[in-house]
Amino acid sequence: MNNRLDGKRIVVTGGASGIGRACAVEAARAGAAVLVADRHPDAARETAESIRSEGGQAESFAVDVTDARRCEEMADYTARTFGGVDGLIAAAGISAVAVPGDPDHHDGSAAGLDWSTEVWRRVLDVNLDGLMYCNRAVARHMIAGGRGGSIVNIASISAAWASGNASAYSVSKAGAWMLTKTLSIEFAKHGIRVNAVGPGFTETPMTAATREDDSARDDIVGRTPLRRFGKPEEIAAPALFLASDAASFVTGTILYADGGFNAYAR
Ligand SMILES: NC(=O)c1ccc[n+]([C@@H]2O[C@H](COP(=O)([O-])OP(=O)(O)OC[C@H]3O[C@@H](n4cnc5c(N)ncnc54)[C@H](O)[C@@H]3O)[C@@H](O)[C@H]2O)c1
Repeated sequence: MNNRLDGKRIVVTGGASGIGRACAVEAARAGAAVLVADRHPDAARETAESIRSEGGQAESFAVDVTDARRCEEMADYTARTFGGVDGLIAAAGISAVAVPGDPDHHDGSAAGLDWSTEVWRRVLDVNLDGLMYCNRAVARHMIAGGRGGSIVNIASISAAWASGNASAYSVSKAGAWMLTKTLSIEFAKHGIRVNAVGPGFTETPMTAATREDDSARDDIVGRTPLRRFGKPEEIAAPALFLASDAASFVTGTILYADGGFNAYAR
């Protein structure tokens, strides 16, 4: 038994950037046919092209995961293109930390009463509601295909750790973890495993502003037993394990890849 994904058809949401991109690239290297799905179609296409240029199998798909109907179309497209759906790695997500030029990333410096309803709603819409739409859409095809499947939800250390200045994000990720547990029970009878990965602070565009802020970066590194940020490939590795048959008896769990950060919170 190994972590290979030969013959598996896997949707990766958020596949245009950061952790999702690494999951898409590594899943294709492990033998999967990959649908790179993202709300940024050009970047998703670029990821798929880069996979194909290495000899892998990939297509891209434009989706905003807050659009439930579009999530169904995404799963339908995967089944039509690759002949079925065996896996989902759901990495599409937003933080509430400002990313210059990206209207979906807000200034997360406000907390508690200062959160705008709009920011709260958008973070929950993308990270929790959108996650559910994607899980539901792929599960329909997995059930129809009769071969079971594996869903891997990219949660966060924030599933268990209350950061103190990102309540919408933490609540969304705690919800993602609970969704993972409940669906693992509901889908088990169909042979569908549902697990989560809980990344710690990882070097992606999402954390660029934090890493450029000396005191924020030092605070995070200081709280991380391994004393560094993770790399996207170090999150992709546990995601691929959970997606693979090597994890055939693993469901309803969260695998933290966080340099030890949540050893304090768990
Ligand atoms: N980077 C970290 O430190 C870290 C830590 C813990 C968890 N995570 C989680 O990992 C996942 C990936 O984050 P990342 O760090 O790679 O960030 P990123 O910003 O580099 O990538 C996120 C991707 O999701 C896509 N996306 C955002 N909203 C979307 C929507 N509504 N529909 C479709 N696609 C959408 C973006 O276009 C982008 O390509 C997120 O769920 C994030 O919450 C990240």
